[in-house]
Amino acid sequence: MKNAIKGFVLPYPIARSLRLGVIMAAMLLFACREAPQPPPTLAPDSTGESGGASDDATGAGSGGTTALAEDAWKIVQQRGRLIVGTSADYPPFAFYTEDFELDGYDIALAGLLGERLGVDVEFKDMAFDGLGGALLVGQIDAAIAAISITDQRREQVDFSTIYFAGEGAALAAAGSGIVINELADLAPYRVAVQEGTVHETWLQEEAVDTGLLPPDNLLVYVAADKAVADLRAGLVDVVVADKLPLEFAARDESLAIVGQGLNRQRFAVALARGSTLLSPVNEALFDLQSEGELARLAEQFLDLDTTEVQPLPEPEATPEASESVRSSNVCIDAMTLIAHLAFDDDGMRSPPPVSPGTPFQKTWRIQNNGTCTWTTGYVLTPVGGNVPQAGMGGAATPIREPVAPGETYDITVNLVSPLVAGVYQGFWSMRSPAGLLFGDRLWVGITVPAQPTPTPPATATVSPSIDFRADRTAIRAGECVIFSWNAGNASDAFFYAQGQQPDLNRVAVAGSQTECPPVTTTYELRVVMGNGTTETRTIRIDVQPSPAAPFFESFSVTPSHQIAVGQCVDVRWRISGDVTTIRVTRNETTLWNGAPLSGTSRDCPPAGEAAYSIVATGPGGDSRALQNVTVLSATPGSGTPTATPAGPLPIINNLAVNPNRIFAGTCLTVSWSVSGSVNRVQLRRDGVLVLDFAVFSGNVTDCLTNEGNYVYRLDATNAQGNAVFQQVSATVVR
Ligand code: ARG
Repeated sequence: MKNAIKGFVLPYPIARSLRLGVIMAAMLLFACREAPQPPPTLAPDSTGESGGASDDATGAGSGGTTALAEDAWKIVQQRGRLIVGTSADYPPFAFYTEDFELDGYDIALAGLLGERLGVDVEFKDMAFDGLGGALLVGQIDAAIAAISITDQRREQVDFSTIYFAGEGAALAAAGSGIVINELADLAPYRVAVQEGTVHETWLQEEAVDTGLLPPDNLLVYVAADKAVADLRAGLVDVVVADKLPLEFAARDESLAIVGQGLNRQRFAVALARGSTLLSPVNEALFDLQSEGELARLAEQFLDLDTTEVQPLPEPEATPEASESVRSSNVCIDAMTLIAHLAFDDDGMRSPPPVSPGTPFQKTWRIQNNGTCTWTTGYVLTPVGGNVPQAGMGGAATPIREPVAPGETYDITVNLVSPLVAGVYQGFWSMRSPAGLLFGDRLWVGITVPAQPTPTPPATATVSPSIDFRADRTAIRAGECVIFSWNAGNASDAFFYAQGQQPDLNRVAVAGSQTECPPVTTTYELRVVMGNGTTETRTIRIDVQPSPAAPFFESFSVTPSHQIAVGQCVDVRWRISGDVTTIRVTRNETTLWNGAPLSGTSRDCPPAGEAAYSIVATGPGGDSRALQNVTVLSATPGSGTPTATPAGPLPIINNLAVNPNRIFAGTCLTVSWSVSGSVNRVQLRRDGVLVLDFAVFSGNVTDCLTNEGNYVYRLDATNAQGNAVFQQVSATVVR
């Protein structure tokens, strides 16, 4: 079976030309490199060590691309440390233990390599897609992440000798009856695959491009472990990846391998092209193999006994860069974590405490150590965590001002701590406008302490005749709570929020009241007894702020404006943030309800106007993207209708009302900011246009006299007519 593999530096289906561009950029870098030096001998007696993901952010080399021009092995020796990039979403090769330590075959292998080379090892956990770029700019010395050798990748990086030989496989729910013997067997299923891997490229080229698999059946995931989680949740039918990680996922027997031997894989250590580390790394690998260390690792982590480990074939020659690709100036994306500026968790050794349901802001200082300037199309996006709640309501957060190569930037994300006690670690990654994930994987770690169980008032002073209750004690902002009380034969009662004056809030001794606190609030019932003594009962209502609405990272319909009957369009999207459902529609017809975060849907509309829309709904509100296509009826005459390409989408950075709960007769402020390709900004209140061609970033004051709920909606449209919108609501009470 042909095994054409791209990806790794750039994921499919991000423009092929762009991928070529990065390859070209790599060649440009290598073109100014000195000839490789013979490797110096190993440092005699220092010992290596492997540790958790490093949070000290000293990059490999002296920063940026300069490292490539130098002797990498010499630099590593001088530094006394080998900086290894990995992607810890792939047990048993690389993953986090429950104690947030990196572990796995690749991690142990790197430790052994460090030992043999006489240097320490520092790990940088990155998105798989970003490893190639990190090597290109010298941010890491080596990448070890179950990386398969491919010819395309060889044009960008050097590979060591092979350290493991395996195969691709398919995983499905146990008892599903699915059997995959050949690619065509995948056709009826929703197939999940990891972005930038050989498996993605293979399925795209061999199954989708050949027509075996409908494009909307290929679902591309950023993280391998998320694809498996969605298989467990029944959102996809099959996951295609390397066999051992899939077998690892199937250990609980709810999932099963349903196809194997799909495509052969040989894993190797990746190095920058021409790196002088190649010989010492190969020597160390040779020793590790001949001394049986690799077999021991396989036994320990891969559950393979030594006889099962496949013999390692000889490495092949490295092809030379072709002359034609040496003369481009396409840039490379890379990012290094400099420091955790807020909520530092000391490498997950001490995740700071945050009370349940509390909003907080995490800030990292990061450096652009690639060669592209970051524009507002670059976002920091959540990519998973130790548990699903570790996303903490965070949404993709754009870079707000240009960051030139070499510059540092402080980026802040808005989060809300989960309501349940525990330790949470959420991961974030940079994403370029082209969709490439790159750079160090950032994380935020917190501890949500167990809340003391509400102590009933001391029995001695409690009069059993007072009953004070709330129908619930934890809500999201905007929701309401019903309090009710009965103070028996008390003479007076007051109900109020802590901080308010009891006297102004006299109530009947038996009654109820609805409250919609926008933030966590403690309510009190003060009861005055017949004998003049008072008693106070409290109930605390925990309010989780509403997270932001889902965020469209991309949306396109191609062809975007006009087609003839019988022709089809591809709707593509990528959405991030806190999303519950995604619905794709054409006019009133639902094309896909419960669609994945990123996907493609092909539709062949009847004549007339076809309005394609995607509505992403989440606890923070709705976001919608729209595109109209005119479908010309039969016999369009000669020539095919022109397809205007969809332009880059506007980005709504934020839309907020403040406060979101006011008294009738008072005012609130609606503020917004949009960036990217924006042509027109419109603000509507309850469907009525209140501002047209508004400024890209601004605010208006709105004074409301009638009680009720008001919905503010911001539409941002680009020059091609592609629109995105977000909405927020506010409540006016008496
Ligand atoms: N072996 C496959 C590849 O090289 C997948 C590797 C994915 N690795 C990971 N750490 N997620 O494309």
